[in-house]
Amino acid sequence: MQFGHFDDANKEYVIRTPMTPLPWINYLGSNDFFSLLSNTCGGYSFYKDAKLLRLTRYRYNNVPMDEGGRYYYVKDGNTVWNPGWQPTKTTLDAYECRHGMGYSRITSKKNGLQASLLAFVPVSDNCEVNRLTLTNHSRKTKSISLFSYIEFCLWNAVDDMTNFQRNLNIGEVEVDGSAIYHKTEYRERRNHYAVFSVNAEIDGFDTSRDAFLGAYRGTDDPIVVKQGSSTNSVTMGWYPIASHQLTMDLEPGESKSLIFVLGYLENPKDDKWESPGVINKAPAKALLARYQTDEQVDGAFGALRKHWNDLLSKYTVRSTSDELNRMVNVWNQYQCMVTFNLSRSASYYESGTGRGMGFRDSCQDLLGFVHLVPDRARERILDIASTQFEDGSAYHQYQPLTKKGNMDIGSGFNDDPLWLIACVVAYIRETGDASILDEVTPYDNDDATATTLFEHLTRSLNYTLANLGPHGLPLIGRADWNDCLNLNCFSETPGESFQTCANFESGKAESVFIAAMFVKYGNEYAELCRHIGNDGEAERAEKAAKDMYQAVLESGWDGEWFLRAYDGYGEKVGSRECDEGQIFIEPQGFCVMAGVGVEEGLAEQALDSVKQRLEGPFGIVLLQPAYQSYHLRLGEISSYPPGYKENAGIFCHNNPWISIAETVLGRGERAFEVYRKTCPAFIEDVSDVHKTEPYVYSQMIAGVDAATPGEAKNSWLTGTAAWTFVNVSQYILGIQPTLDGLRVNPCISSDLGEFEVERQYRGVNYHIEVQNPDRVQKGVVKLVVDGKEVEGNVIPHPGKASKCKVIAVMG
Ligand code: BGC
Ligand code: NOJ
Repeated sequence: MQFGHFDDANKEYVIRTPMTPLPWINYLGSNDFFSLLSNTCGGYSFYKDAKLLRLTRYRYNNVPMDEGGRYYYVKDGNTVWNPGWQPTKTTLDAYECRHGMGYSRITSKKNGLQASLLAFVPVSDNCEVNRLTLTNHSRKTKSISLFSYIEFCLWNAVDDMTNFQRNLNIGEVEVDGSAIYHKTEYRERRNHYAVFSVNAEIDGFDTSRDAFLGAYRGTDDPIVVKQGSSTNSVTMGWYPIASHQLTMDLEPGESKSLIFVLGYLENPKDDKWESPGVINKAPAKALLARYQTDEQVDGAFGALRKHWNDLLSKYTVRSTSDELNRMVNVWNQYQCMVTFNLSRSASYYESGTGRGMGFRDSCQDLLGFVHLVPDRARERILDIASTQFEDGSAYHQYQPLTKKGNMDIGSGFNDDPLWLIACVVAYIRETGDASILDEVTPYDNDDATATTLFEHLTRSLNYTLANLGPHGLPLIGRADWNDCLNLNCFSETPGESFQTCANFESGKAESVFIAAMFVKYGNEYAELCRHIGNDGEAERAEKAAKDMYQAVLESGWDGEWFLRAYDGYGEKVGSRECDEGQIFIEPQGFCVMAGVGVEEGLAEQALDSVKQRLEGPFGIVLLQPAYQSYHLRLGEISSYPPGYKENAGIFCHNNPWISIAETVLGRGERAFEVYRKTCPAFIEDVSDVHKTEPYVYSQMIAGVDAATPGEAKNSWLTGTAAWTFVNVSQYILGIQPTLDGLRVNPCISSDLGEFEVERQYRGVNYHIEVQNPDRVQKGVVKLVVDGKEVEGNVIPHPGKASKCKVIAVMG
């Protein structure tokens, strides 16, 4: 069952009911100011850091779900309704929510009155703009009262939810005409404030939540709206909100628009006050002046649309599959941008208070983002590398505001350092800019320790080599990519975090997955070394990668698939010898991606085992058989009920690894089959089962062992976005950036037939037509570049030309 449809021409998903199985959200914001916005107007806003600079409140775990947002109450006679349906839930005569690229438009109708809300964050300002257009389609004049409503968060979202004894005393606001200012803690150490304003004269306002809602009442029935008049409350402490009242008459056919702006502003420390106790509002006034008229809003909205059209023109496919086209051209890249911006910090499943920017997460997110804005990728790489430790290991996460490592989340995840190689190589393959390797970059943000970025990569590699176990395989540390495979933790304390509890390094727990990463990224590092003329280092890395390859063949092969690990007692994990957890997905995908076992025929066997043992109707589960009880030796993985999350859920992030691995073997049919199974657009018709948004990937889909197979959770912020885009754009469609230029190397299913790709790469616009007369799955036999046939499948740089036409013939 579907709850909407794709509008490809407008790059929108159109939701036709507010009652989606879960809130279906969108992200507004490109740079520093972000908002989450659901299809019923729920969500919240923050500046840079969802934990430290939260503008508005949102209550996770609330009932009814998705309460709190930017709400507009329309009072038309005795009927009160909201354009987004929540929170009054008054039945609407018509409803539609269009989520687009960085904006959403919710349009609804009640009793002949239409309300259309356009919400977006402009590319160049730190604010959310809400334009509400009301149109009277009835035959009678309507007298309407409109009430806006947002609830301020006292900046630090954790403190806001916990420290009531202080916080209920500190809330402060100022009202100046139609602008309501939130200035809690501004009197002391904060030099920033928020403003919520409207471009019209108001008939009243409220800033006290209690005054607006009334005691023991909720947002579904505020007393002020019921009585039809604001109280002009100025709160001191308690719960600061901002609400405007606007009354208006609308003649039949008449339309009026109102522009609401929620902004974040900063003042210099020594210029905070206009007069004693009165904030300096100059920056706010300048901001609001830019959103006073419809023309200004149209201009900013046009700039946002252009911004996205430009970004998405970096990679466009034209194929016979609408689902493929819309995912590649629009939604997958859009999700890559969101994960790049937010890592795992703020979604409807990530509270914005716990996890900042993940080291491994951000490195992987970059793989799907680097082509969109390479300069931002460059900056990000240097930020991430600056949190690395001198021995090459890493903080697992860092705070986006301070850009400093956050020990609350732990360290000692032994895969982390190698992801840095992955993203730096991806950056140079995309841009050709090897100068990044010379950037002087600190360790643990301490300038005294700084070396070149290249040295950071060397230390990443050496960290693995310095931490090998009894079989010559890498020690896993606290965990590897699978955060829940905690082989050295042995946690027996209820509620203890597996990420930060004591880690009893056994010296025995080894990861075949990290071994595969080492082969793959060790070889990529070697390639990079050769590229910059450092042959000696290249040879050292190649030799180390080769030794690791051997170690995997000797101690990491289980007979029909790759083993997952050795535990803290040296026992096998992910082996047919185990009672549960006999086969895991990760080493099968990554070993084959690294080329391990390809020549030996093991790769094929491993992937066939995946198909036989791990694949279900909704995708490939992480392991089988699921763990039925808690295993002290394994940690968090066995803490989940069977079929969920890392315990045999479909962890979408590693499904593309299998698809890529299939392309390594040239099995295009199979690669595409795996791609389609978890791809949102291809499973739109089971939205009632899947439940999360059909336009983006979710982290997890419940597996075959679950009570609810096919039900997804944790949509949006997942490494799935980047890896599926890498898979489909580089391995299936086969347009691969390399150090030497763009390679054309598709691996496709026969029903895909021929296709075209537009790719902007290193300043050149490539138009690539892939022909496949013999319907083969892989192999380019002829490459014609601007009319001339060239050797091999890498397109030579076309010199000064800014355009290049390529025909690749498969055969
Ligand atoms: C989740 C993992 C996640 C980890 C992050 C665990 O509870 O299951 O998916 O990576 O938390 O801290
Ligand atoms: C989600 C985390 O963000 C990611 O870092 C991890 O690799 C996966 N879960 C698997 O545990």
